[in-house]
Amino acid sequence: MNPLIDTALGQSLHKGEPLLWLNPNYQAEEAQYPCELSRNDIDQADQRLRRFAPLLQQLFPELTSQQGLIESKLLPAPQLQQQYYPHLSGKLIIKADHALPVAGSVKARGGIHEVLCHAEQLALENNIIHSTADDYLALLSPECKALFSHYEIAVSSTGNLGLSIGIISAALGFKSVVHMSVEAKQWKKQRLRDRGVTVIEHSNDYSAAVEAGRNASNADPSSYFVDDENSPRLFLGYAVAALRLQQQLADQQIAVDAEHPLFVYIPCGVGGAPGGINFGLKQVFGPHVHCFFAEPVEAPCVLVGMQAEDKLHPESVYQVGLNVATEADGLAVSMASGWVCSVMDTLLSGIFTVTDDELFLALYQLKHSEAIEIEPSAAAGFSGPSWLTQTAQGKTYQQQQQLTSVMDNATHLVWTTGGLFVPTQEMQKFQQRGEQLANR
Ligand SMILES: Cc1ncc(COP(=O)(O)O)c(C=O)c1O
Repeated sequence: MNPLIDTALGQSLHKGEPLLWLNPNYQAEEAQYPCELSRNDIDQADQRLRRFAPLLQQLFPELTSQQGLIESKLLPAPQLQQQYYPHLSGKLIIKADHALPVAGSVKARGGIHEVLCHAEQLALENNIIHSTADDYLALLSPECKALFSHYEIAVSSTGNLGLSIGIISAALGFKSVVHMSVEAKQWKKQRLRDRGVTVIEHSNDYSAAVEAGRNASNADPSSYFVDDENSPRLFLGYAVAALRLQQQLADQQIAVDAEHPLFVYIPCGVGGAPGGINFGLKQVFGPHVHCFFAEPVEAPCVLVGMQAEDKLHPESVYQVGLNVATEADGLAVSMASGWVCSVMDTLLSGIFTVTDDELFLALYQLKHSEAIEIEPSAAAGFSGPSWLTQTAQGKTYQQQQQLTSVMDNATHLVWTTGGLFVPTQEMQKFQQRGEQLANR
């Protein structure tokens, strides 16, 4: 067992008690970011997605209205705030990645960015295009499809990353293999198989599926493995969301500055998507943004990882006696990305944990106030505003960061991370469970 189990935090984790952990290493003003990546890298990822936009628009007609950019809306949530957050001063808003086109989850920007990096490199090496200024529609030519058909793109996933990688790889003509961990939903596997993706089902957890997928891919020189535990390309794709959000906030005249703090609450699995977003937001808003990750009480792997002396080598949640037993399939991860934990060291404000009942109640409340439907994983952020404003821990954070006097001007942004393609019947079951909890 991990020595963490002997601490008060370890005991609370072990008992599955929801909690808010404040990161003692958080530094609001961080001149030096704790990794080699920079704002320039995020800008380059953004440029790459823009270079590919005409091609993506051809492949996915649903992107036409956004000229090939994969982006979600920033939504107000007045009914939700009025009915379920009556004591919240400031403004509650939603970053609607549950409706992100093409892949239907927050994993779209990162996953698609990484596949496009690989496709671009192969196209340049094989003279399909000669520079990044060329017309990328050449990547849809029969010649390029024939080239890509000799290469494989593989990934391991709890479901949503697999959807993102599988859909774009297959559309570009790659062989595509997705290793699904035990919790992956049947409909996500079927959706991939329908697109010609090879789905390999594993009977064990996500970390084991990553290990197996990585080993199989490494044994094949034509295979490229998208490594969710350790991928700057994924991370930078996720980080692009920060640039897009900056524009959306400006368009809606929502200020983010010393007088107007921005609190962001993001569901967290292995850490890549929320980590990339946190990294991007810090580059854009510096000390004025405060990022909190949301993890299931049964799978708080980044919270455990952030306690490790060597963050590059985190322990699993099994070490504190937990079993990853959660309906939040996207967050059902036993061991965090060590690389992400190390990058988050001084950037992350804190982490709160949520029970499955809280997830189902939140998704029900969201449907009944704002008519928005999401999957359970995507609902993890909704207890964030209450943790920050209604609890002693939250008030401690406000004091530490000298925010108490500006909380009336705060924006609380809940990131909803998946749900677009959930079949109607599944969605109804989620809603029924939420309704039962609401009527208790
Ligand atoms: C709906 C949803 N939200 C959040 C996440 C968390 O992303 P990450 O595993 O990169 O932390 C996932 C991961 O698959 C997801 O599917």
